[in-house]
Amino acid sequence: MKLRELIALPFRLISPWCAEHVECFFVECRVAAVHGIGRMRSRKYRGRAGLRLNLGCGPKLKDGYLNLDFHPKADLRLDLRRRIPLPDDSCHEIFSEHFLEHLEYPEEVDGHLRDCRRLLAPGGTIKLSVPDTEWPLGEYGNPDGSYLAACAREHWHPEDCTTVLEHLNYHFRQRWTGTSRMDFQCHRFAYDFETIEQALIRGGFTEVRRREFEPGLDGEHRSPGSLLVAATKPGDEED
Ligand SMILES: C[S@@+](CC[C@H](N)C(=O)[O-])C[C@H]1O[C@@H](n2cnc3c(N)ncnc32)[C@H](O)[C@@H]1O
Repeated sequence: MKLRELIALPFRLISPWCAEHVECFFVECRVAAVHGIGRMRSRKYRGRAGLRLNLGCGPKLKDGYLNLDFHPKADLRLDLRRRIPLPDDSCHEIFSEHFLEHLEYPEEVDGHLRDCRRLLAPGGTIKLSVPDTEWPLGEYGNPDGSYLAACAREHWHPEDCTTVLEHLNYHFRQRWTGTSRMDFQCHRFAYDFETIEQALIRGGFTEVRRREFEPGLDGEHRSPGSLLVAATKPGDEED
C-alpha cells in the first residue's frame, strides 16, 4: 500500500461529516501557523498612526493601504476572524470590500467590528461594501427584474445556475457543493442596510449611513450589486 493510500484509509472508514471535521482541524492548524507568521511581521507597524487598512483585499492590493487577507499576495497574511495585531487607534480609515459576508454572523462579525473600532482613531471611518441582498430579494417573483439580467451580463454565477432559487442560493452561499467550513470563499451571511447598520451599532460605531460609490476606492467590478455603507468611531467625548 502506498503512503498516500495509507493516510487516506482512516478517512474512508469515517462518515463524510466526520472526515470534513478532521480535515478542518488540519486546515485550522495551517491557518493558525500562517496567522502566527503574519502576527510577527506586523510588529514593524508598532508605533504607526494614521494607517489605512484594506481588509479582505484578495489578490489586488490598493496603493496607500495596508492590505490584509489570508491570500498570499496580501501585505500581511492574517486570519481576520482573529484579533488584528495592530495597535489601538492606529488607523485613520478601514475599508473592506465584499469581505464581511465571509464571516459567521453574529459572533465573528461582532468580534471583527469591535476590533475595527479598536484600531480606528476617534473620528476615524469604516467603509464597507457587501453584496446587496435587498436587490435579488426585492425582485423575487418578477421575471422582468434586473438582478438575473445582471447575473448573466456580469457572469456572477456559474452556468449550472438556472432556476431563480439556484441563483438566490448562489447569492447567499457562493456555492452549494463542498460545504467545508474552512472555505474562505463561501458566503456565510447576507446583508440589507438594516442588518449591517445594527451590526455596526453593536460594534460601537455611530453615524451609520449609506455611502456613494467612490471611484478609485470601490472596485469598478463591484459597482453594480453592492451595498455601500460608512460609519464613524465616535470621538473621545462621545464615547
Ligand atoms: C470575495 S473576496 C474579495 C476580494 C476583494 N476585496 C474584492 O472585492 O475583489 C473575499 C476575500 O476575503 C478573504 N477572506 C475570507 N475570510 C477570511 C479570513 N478569515 N481571513 C482572511 N481573509 C479572509 C478571502 O481570502 C478573499 O480574498
